[in-house]
Amino acid sequence: MKKHFLPVFLLLAVCFAGLSLVQAQEEEKYYVGSRACADCHEEEYATYQKFAKKAHSFEAVVKMRDKLTTAEVQECYHCHTTGYGRPGGFKDEHTTPDLKNVGCEACHGPGSAHVESEDPEDIWGDHEKIRNVCEACHTKERVEAFNYRPLLHGGAH
Ligand code: HEC
Ligand code: HEC
Ligand code: HEC
Ligand code: HEC
Repeated sequence: MKKHFLPVFLLLAVCFAGLSLVQAQEEEKYYVGSRACADCHEEEYATYQKFAKKAHSFEAVVKMRDKLTTAEVQECYHCHTTGYGRPGGFKDEHTTPDLKNVGCEACHGPGSAHVESEDPEDIWGDHEKIRNVCEACHTKERVEAFNYRPLLHGGAH
C-alpha cells in the first residue's frame, strides 16, 4: 500500500500542474502590438500604417490632454489605444508604447498565442465576431455608415 502511494501522488501532482498551466495560458493571452504582426502579415501592416487613422489615434489624446484631468485622459484610452483595461493591454505610453494607438488587436483580439502558434484558431478572424467589436468605440449609426468592409484596414484591404 505504502509503495503505491508515492507514484500515484506524483502522477496526480503532475496532472494538476498541467491543468492549471492550460488555464493559465488561456488567461494569459496578452496584447503584443501591431508591429509583432508585420513579420507574417506584411501587406496588412503596411497598408494599415499608411492609411488607417487608427494607426495614429494616440495623437488626438496628446493634442488635447493638457486641457483635461487625468481621469478624463484615461477615458480616452478606452477607444484611442489597444486593450486598455484588459489583461495585458495598454497601461500608459511609457510601459506599453506599442499599444498606444488602436492596432490590429483592437479588432482581432489579444495576439500573443497566435504569434507563437500561427494558428488561425488563436485569433479572431471571423467576420461576424469582428463586426461586433466596432461598436465598442463607434456609434451604431457610424458603423452602418462605414459599410463595414471597404475601410477595415484603412482603405486598401
Ligand atoms: C509568425 C507568423 C505570424 C504572426 C507573427 C502573426 N500571424 Fe496571423 N496568421 C499566420 C498564419 C500562418 C495564418 C494562417 C494563414 C493565413 O490566413 O494567412 C494567420 C492568420 C491570421 C488571421 C486570419 C484568421 C482566420 O480566422 O482566418 C488573422 C486575422 C491574423 N492572422 C491576424 C494576426 C494578427 C493581428 C497578428 C499580430 C498580433 C498576427 N496575425 C501575427 C501567421 C502569423
Ligand atoms: C467611445 C469611444 C471614444 C472615446 C471614449 C473617445 N473617443 Fe475620440 N474618437 C472616437 C472615434 C470612434 C473617433 C473617430 C470618429 C469617426 O471618424 O467616426 C474619434 C475621433 C477623435 C478625434 C478626431 C481625430 C481626427 O483625426 O480628426 C479627436 C481629436 C478625439 N477623438 C479626441 C478624443 C479625446 C481627447 C478623448 C478623451 C477625452 C476621446 N477622444 C475619447 C472614439 C472615442
Ligand atoms: C478595424 C478593425 C480591424 C483592424 C484594426 C485590423 N483588422 Fe484585420 N480584419 C478585420 C476584419 C473585419 C477582417 C475580416 C474581413 C472579411 O472576412 O471580409 C480582417 C481580416 C484580416 C486577415 C485575414 C485575411 C484577410 O486579409 O482578409 C488578416 C491576416 C488580418 N485581418 C490582419 C490584420 C493585421 C495584421 C492588422 C494590423 C496591421 C489588422 N488586421 C487590423 C478587421 C480589422
Ligand atoms: C478600440 C476602439 C476602436 C475599435 C474597436 C474600432 N475603431 Fe474605428 N476608429 C477608432 C478611432 C479612435 C478612430 C479615429 C482615429 C483618429 O482619427 O485619430 C477610428 C477611425 C475609424 C475610421 C475612420 C477612417 C480611418 O482612416 O481610420 C473608420 C472607417 C473606422 N474607424 C472603422 C471601424 C470599423 C469598421 C471597426 C470594426 C471592424 C472599427 N473601426 C473598430 C477606434 C476604434
